[in-house]
Amino acid sequence: HPSNVQMEGGSVLERANCRAKGGSPGFKVAILGAAGGIGQPLAMLMKMNPLVSVLHLYDVVNSPGVTADISHMDTGAVVRGFLGQPQLDAALTGMDLVIIPAGVPRKPGMTRDDLFKINAGIVKTLCEGITRCCPNAIVNLISNPVNSTVPIAAEVFKKAGTYDPKRLLGVTMLDVVRANTFVAEVLGLDPREVSVPVVGGHAGVTILPLLSQVKPPCSFTKEETEYLTKRIQDGGTEVVQAKAGAGSATLSMAYAAVKFADCCLRGLRGDAGIVECAYVASQVTELPFFATQVRLGRGGAEEIYQLGPLNEYERVGLEEAKKELATSIEKGVSFIRK
Ligand code: NAD
Ligand code: LMR
Repeated sequence: HPSNVQMEGGSVLERANCRAKGGSPGFKVAILGAAGGIGQPLAMLMKMNPLVSVLHLYDVVNSPGVTADISHMDTGAVVRGFLGQPQLDAALTGMDLVIIPAGVPRKPGMTRDDLFKINAGIVKTLCEGITRCCPNAIVNLISNPVNSTVPIAAEVFKKAGTYDPKRLLGVTMLDVVRANTFVAEVLGLDPREVSVPVVGGHAGVTILPLLSQVKPPCSFTKEETEYLTKRIQDGGTEVVQAKAGAGSATLSMAYAAVKFADCCLRGLRGDAGIVECAYVASQVTELPFFATQVRLGRGGAEEIYQLGPLNEYERVGLEEAKKELATSIEKGVSFIRK
C-alpha cells in the first residue's frame, strides 16, 4: 500500500492488512480533512472507538504525520494515511462511513455562508469520490455551510445515480451538545441528564432549539428562553470570536462528530432505538432538507420524526429559520445544476 505511513512494506503491513480483512468485527471509516483542526482530534477519538476496525485518514496536506502519530495508539483500528487527490479513491474504497470535516473555517466577522465559495467545490470533489468508490457508505457532512453543502452532496449523488437520501446526514450534533450544556447550566443539572432537540439547520436563526421539548420536562421564563435560544444559535460565533482569527470550534466539534458517528455505527450494527438530530432530506416541512430527530439504523436515517408540538416562540422561530434555509438550499442545489 503506497500511502500506508504506519506500516510500509514487510510483514508488519501484511499482518495488519490481514487483521483488517480477517473479519475482525467493526466498520471501515474514512475521515476526509483528517489533518485539520477538527480532523485530528476526530481521528484520535475514532481510533479509540471499538466499533471501528479500519480508519482511513485523507487530507491534501499533513496526513502522513497525523497517520503515523495516531497509528501508535494501542487500540484495535488499523490506520492508513492518504495524501492528495490521486489517493482519494484508495482512501474511500470499501468504506462503511465517511466523515467530512474538509474545508476552510470562519474567521471573526464571517458568516458560514462566506465559506461557500471555497467549501462548495471541496465537498463536490470529495462526494464525486464517494460515488466512485463507496456509493453505499453513510456520509456525515461537517463542512460549512452545512445548510448548503448537504444539498450539494445530494445533487452530486443524484447526478451519479447513487443517491440514497437516508445515507446523507448533515452533522448538527454540536448544536445539540451546546444546547444540552447551556440548558443544564440554567437548570443546575448535569448536562448528561439533559436532552434538547435542535431542529432546522446549522447557521444563525436556522438553528432552532425546541426548549418546550427538553428532557427532563421543565419550563423557562421568557428571559431564559431568549437567552438560551440566542446562546445556542450563536455558539459557533462565540468560539470564532474567542479564537480571534485562529479558526472555529474544533475540539467540541470533534467530540460531537464522534458522538454522532458512533450512533451511525451502532445503527449500522442493528442496535435499536438510536435517535439523534441531523440535517437530512425531509418531508417534515415544505423544504427539501431540514434537521429533526431521526432514527438511525442499518440504512442510515431510517425514520424522520415530526417536529412535535411547538409553542408560539418556536413557531415564529420556525418561520424565520425556513426563510433562510430555503435560500441556502437553493444556493447549494444550483451550484451543481448550473
Ligand atoms: P481546518 O482548516 O483546521 O481543517 C480543514 C482541513 O481540510 C485542512 O487540514 C485542509 O487541508 C483540509 N482540506 C482542504 N481542502 C481539502 C480537500 N479538497 N480534500 C481534503 N481535505 C481538504 O478547519 P476545521 O476547523 O477543521 O473546520 C473544517 C470545516 O468544518 C469548516 O468548514 C468549518 O466551518 C466546519 N465546521 C462545522 C461544524 C458543524 O457543526 N457542522 C463545526 C465546526 C466546524
Ligand atoms: C460551529 O457551529 O461551531 C461551526 O459551524 C463553526 C462556525 O463557523 O461557527
